[in-house]
Amino acid sequence: MSIYFDNAATSHPKPKAVLDAVARAMTEFNANPGRSGHPAALAAARTVLETREKLARLLNAPDPMRVIHCFNCTDALNLAVKGSLHAGDHVVATALEHNSVLRVLGTLAARGRIAFTLVRPRTDGFVDPEDIRAALTVKTALIVCTHASNVTGAIQPVAAIGQLARELGIRYLIDGAQALGGLPVDVRALGCDLYAFPGHKSLLGPQGTGGLYIGEGIGLFTQREGGTGSSSDSLLQPAELPERYESGTVNLPGIAGLGAGCDHAQKNLSQIMMRERELCQALFEGLSAIEGVEVYSPAREAGRASLVSFNAFDLSSAQAADALAQRGFAVRGGLHCAPEAHRFLGTLRRGVVRASLGHANTFEEVERFLAAVRSLK
Ligand SMILES: Cc1ncc(COP(=O)(O)O)c(C=O)c1O
Repeated sequence: MSIYFDNAATSHPKPKAVLDAVARAMTEFNANPGRSGHPAALAAARTVLETREKLARLLNAPDPMRVIHCFNCTDALNLAVKGSLHAGDHVVATALEHNSVLRVLGTLAARGRIAFTLVRPRTDGFVDPEDIRAALTVKTALIVCTHASNVTGAIQPVAAIGQLARELGIRYLIDGAQALGGLPVDVRALGCDLYAFPGHKSLLGPQGTGGLYIGEGIGLFTQREGGTGSSSDSLLQPAELPERYESGTVNLPGIAGLGAGCDHAQKNLSQIMMRERELCQALFEGLSAIEGVEVYSPAREAGRASLVSFNAFDLSSAQAADALAQRGFAVRGGLHCAPEAHRFLGTLRRGVVRASLGHANTFEEVERFLAAVRSLK
């Protein structure tokens, strides 16, 4: 496989413990968790619970039962946004959001159910919480902000926005797709009601995993109804969490792997963060020093998640990404499913090349990548 700089899409490689946990779940206790009472089903249910507890610890969530297993971050965001809104509501989100927020809002608005306002970042790439305040109306029922932009990596002032949301009593959702497992996350300190995250990015779990933290006292309309293995005589969803939002068979192998990924993150987070930040700084400085390369990520090291976006010479981002693939590097060109972020950057037509680093990358790989970018001229 090529040198992998596409960790913001999904992380690679996964630690061996993750692969082993998936294999164990599929061989030693391959049963339906929360349904039957035989030993394999109980072992499966225990695994699902243990991963939930590990996720709660990473999030500093007080109650693991309020961490819902989802199938990816998009699934979690759909539940959080659609589950929160009533007809006539207004939503304030940022222009940096991913389509997994924008298209949910766009679809609801196209059906005439809600209205929304997108707040653009300031020229430095960071949203000003005061601009969020200015966009609120009496009908605003939800504020949505990405923890870190998946296009530029810019870490947004999510705690300051949380303070504002608390002050005004408005429900607050953070999209943690580019944060949990790579940045410290504390849902209590952030003041959020909902925190959506994937399991397959910085948490190093398998694809098909993710989750939603639901704050105490926050109710959501269910988006999926069905079997939960509990209160089966009722035609309505059970009121209890997590099963209220976890209808149908969960992704047991994925969740088992995610548990091992959480162990890895819990044990190594500060080390991973420090190393990725150093690697990212080397990448940022190296790319910025190449004449003809334009870098879009923030210069402040502490202000960005571990990715750098750029364009090179007169190439489109797709041409540059393809040329880098031929030289043995996996990066992503295009719009990264975040069109409004590109409108803000002025790259809606050209896109950008995103090089996103992970726990296994090295300084040598960064040096080789810089040489490959230079060779595109
Ligand atoms: C900021 C952001 N939000 C949401 C998502 C969607 O995540 P998933 O692919 O897990 O659905 C992504 C994926 O790249 C993302 O970067």
